[in-house]
Amino acid sequence: LGAAKKVRGALIVIEGLDRAGKSTQVSRIAQSITAKTIKFPERTTPIGKMIDSYLGKMSEMDDHAIHLLFSANRWEKVDEILRSLDDGQHVICDRYAFSGIAYSCAKGLSHDWCRSPDVGLPLPDLTLFLSLTPEVAAQRGAYGEERYEVVAIQEKVKTILSQLGSETNVGPWQTIDAGQDIDKVTEDCLAEVKKAIDSVQLKGAPIGKLFT
Ligand code: TMP
Ligand code: MG
Repeated sequence: LGAAKKVRGALIVIEGLDRAGKSTQVSRIAQSITAKTIKFPERTTPIGKMIDSYLGKMSEMDDHAIHLLFSANRWEKVDEILRSLDDGQHVICDRYAFSGIAYSCAKGLSHDWCRSPDVGLPLPDLTLFLSLTPEVAAQRGAYGEERYEVVAIQEKVKTILSQLGSETNVGPWQTIDAGQDIDKVTEDCLAEVKKAIDSVQLKGAPIGKLFT
């Protein structure tokens, strides 16, 4: 008698602007479905420390160079993500390649160029885009001090991010109204996450590759 093959975990991505409530929802979802969470940028690695210094305006960097570091920061976690999924564990990423493209494109880099270093990353089984109107965002108070936390950039990022879901080979993409009551946002997220997990378990398909 062979042991039943273990079903892999689901890869869930949460995207959205600063102040959309991503981190809150990530921890609530993770608790509900018992998942591992990874926040990008992952600031504790040597690459992550360079990114942290750049975001904190302690260092300057060419736009292309910082873009590649953000991507490298995802690639350095791929092994861990794949091993967890293989092990049957769900993984939730707080930001992913979509943030990478949106923030760099907002600075004027070409879309195709921005996309290429992330080609082949593990394909999300679901991306939840926490969408917020500029009005509701403004009611949530002032931005922090980090680079990009300014209205002009956030508006460009929102436009680009909300279009990324209709590109090919990005995986299932759902937009969630993040302006609702916090518990309702969680409820909407969980409904989608549960569907995605059911689909992974039903299909038994291996994890795909982003943008391929
Ligand atoms: P955080 O506030 O979620 O820690 O993200 C830090 C900033 O980095 C945020 O403004 C979004 C930006 N960012 C990029 O520019 N490229 C990326 O690839 C990622 C993951 C984040
Ligand atoms: Mg931030």
